Amino acid sequence: MLGSVFRDKEVILPGNCTFLDIDEVDITRHEQVALVMQDIKPAFLVNCSAYTNVDGAEDQQKLSHAINADGVRNLAVECKKYGSKLIHYSTDFIFDGKSLIPYKENDVPHPLNVYGQTKLDGELAIQSVLPEAQYIILRTSWLFGPRGKNFVATMISLAKNKTPLKVVTDQTGSPTFTRDLAKATCALIEKNAAGVFHYCNSGSCSWYEFARYAIDCAGMTDYPVAQTISADFKRPAKRPEYSLLSTERFISVCGYTPRHWHEAVREYVTEYISQQPPV
Ligand SMILES: NC(=O)c1ccc[n+]([C@@H]2O[C@H](COP(=O)([O-])OP(=O)(O)OC[C@H]3O[C@@H](n4cnc5c(N)ncnc54)[C@H](OP(=O)(O)O)[C@@H]3O)[C@@H](O)[C@H]2O)c1
Repeated sequence: MLGSVFRDKEVILPGNCTFLDIDEVDITRHEQVALVMQDIKPAFLVNCSAYTNVDGAEDQQKLSHAINADGVRNLAVECKKYGSKLIHYSTDFIFDGKSLIPYKENDVPHPLNVYGQTKLDGELAIQSVLPEAQYIILRTSWLFGPRGKNFVATMISLAKNKTPLKVVTDQTGSPTFTRDLAKATCALIEKNAAGVFHYCNSGSCSWYEFARYAIDCAGMTDYPVAQTISADFKRPAKRPEYSLLSTERFISVCGYTPRHWHEAVREYVTEYISQQPPV
């Protein structure tokens, strides 16, 4: 989802960019990473790759760790060789959700699931290899946007097909539009920022409210969405009840407040609907 925003030039990274997919470089293969880094010697390496199947990770611990931790270490080691700055994305799922106020960058992580643990291990790998000036770790939450597996498109398509919908009310966070996250990345690069940052769209909601709003934006205000709670909607991976990220540090460095998730979802849904074939 995120990588394609840069690749398709919906948001333009500064400088001459080389875009590499898994076919060109598998980050778990250190020798492949070493070869492309030797060839390109980039000023920046923006890593959008990850193992992102939160439930799948519970059964695929080895693979998710190989990608989210060992693979990320490979990138950090090669960045160190060439003085490249590593820009890497992490997640709200490194927190346990017990907080009552938005998580700050230096709050103590305590992941509840394998995915969160492997993403935290990736952060720690970067920090053990690179000095702070040489990385940006940008934690984000609840991504949506064109391409890839995306909650907003899934909810709208289920509603269109009249599939009964039940969505949880007891997990609170903030949706983030991939395009806004990509712009935030450019803003941090432009400010020569370094260290750990949080970025998500402003406001907060439950997954139920997120689904309801997306379906409303698609013009299906009468379509029923039932409420449920996590205990009645068992999934392999445990999720934090509350994972809102504080964006204060991002705002103070970049000088702007992320737009509200309502505005971002509305924009995306309008675009998504306009691209659907007529019924
Ligand atoms: N999605 C969310 O809600 C969310 C929330 C918080 C944070 N994040 C973080 O934000 C970042 C971007 O997420 P996203 O949703 O855009 O991810 P995504 O759509 O799942 O894309 C991840 C990409 O990484 C590729 N990949 C997997 N293993 C690889 C490997 N060994 N070498 C090279 N590429 C590999 C995948 O290729 P294949 O498709 O071929 O496997 C896929 O194209 C990730 O760091 C993620 O952890 C995401």
